[in-house]
Amino acid sequence: MKQTALQNYDRKSELTAFDETKSGVKGLVDAGITTLPRIFIVPSCENPNSGEPPCPELNLPIIDLYGINEDPIRRKEVIEQVKNALGSWGFFQMVNHGIPDSMLEEMKKGVLGFFEQDNEVKKKWYRRRDGSGKPKFLYNSNFDLYSAPVANWRDTIYCPMAPNPPQPHEIPSACRDILMEYSKQVMELGIHLFKLISEALQLNAEHLIKLGCATGLAILGHFYPPCPQPKLAIGTSTHTDNTFITILLQDQIGGLQVLHQNHWIDIPPNPKALVVNVGDLLQLISNDKFFSAQHRVLANKIGPRVSVASFFTTGNLQTSMVCEPIKELISEENPVKYRSTTVKEYHEHFNSKGLDGTSALLRFKI
Ligand code: OGA
Ligand code: NI
Repeated sequence: MKQTALQNYDRKSELTAFDETKSGVKGLVDAGITTLPRIFIVPSCENPNSGEPPCPELNLPIIDLYGINEDPIRRKEVIEQVKNALGSWGFFQMVNHGIPDSMLEEMKKGVLGFFEQDNEVKKKWYRRRDGSGKPKFLYNSNFDLYSAPVANWRDTIYCPMAPNPPQPHEIPSACRDILMEYSKQVMELGIHLFKLISEALQLNAEHLIKLGCATGLAILGHFYPPCPQPKLAIGTSTHTDNTFITILLQDQIGGLQVLHQNHWIDIPPNPKALVVNVGDLLQLISNDKFFSAQHRVLANKIGPRVSVASFFTTGNLQTSMVCEPIKELISEENPVKYRSTTVKEYHEHFNSKGLDGTSALLRFKI
């Protein structure tokens, strides 16, 4: 952990006290706080709101998936666009992705519905992942509360949906039906995307699916309460995702940014679009052909902001899935850049490190 003057206090007990409220950041806001508890204060030199404004000339690519299953020429064009976007940005937005707008709205409402419930009802779901037993629906604030250098202005629900979905009664009723419906649609879309991405890597369309990239899916619903001092806080610290790919749905508030050519670029809200990004595991198996870009979410005076991140990864599950650079992508000019690992080993490393601004991939670099 970075040592700064700010941390000359009993941080651990303040973190524990916050955790034990089981009420998250929303609980602080509901209680009417007007100044930030110091566990949330970002050291001033790292505060994103105090730096250069984002670069307006660079725009994240928007890819239109219309017609890709009927028209082979469209499909080829889209594969080329995917290749360019994932090779240079690691991110793109997509429209005509096949998930109805109404379902996107319902999904955001479901997350909001969970967080806006009575606190006593919500508290029953508050829990940290401990690595033991079957992963299940949970709610908490800051998965890395005790390991990260700064607490984020965000609460989260987490639900593994594949390969072992919870029983319906194991999901809170506020978001049960929509989570199950949405995850089915996201899985279908993910399979389409993995085919496009395989082809963008000049592999057989089924290659990434056969490797198991679409085997695991977890859905995270983030809730970013309005922040009384947004310049001092961060919604989500700079990080890369611990996934093969992530499909992200965000509401109209904004604040999501991606680092591109050393500039922080806004990812503008678009109610019809979903954001796709490469996670560390796809960077590793593609041997850096596609890269897992750093991104973050600014804190905002306005809120709450809701987002839904669909993580394609088997995570800590006891699957035997090995991750290593795909042989077809290795040549004399492109030698192997990573050692072989397992999804489980990678995840354990990612989780113990927390969002500390460094890449979890470094450990596996040759
Ligand atoms: C994530 C993430 C962004 C957002 O869940 O990994 O980057 O907009 N979320 O909440
Ligand atoms: Ni992310």
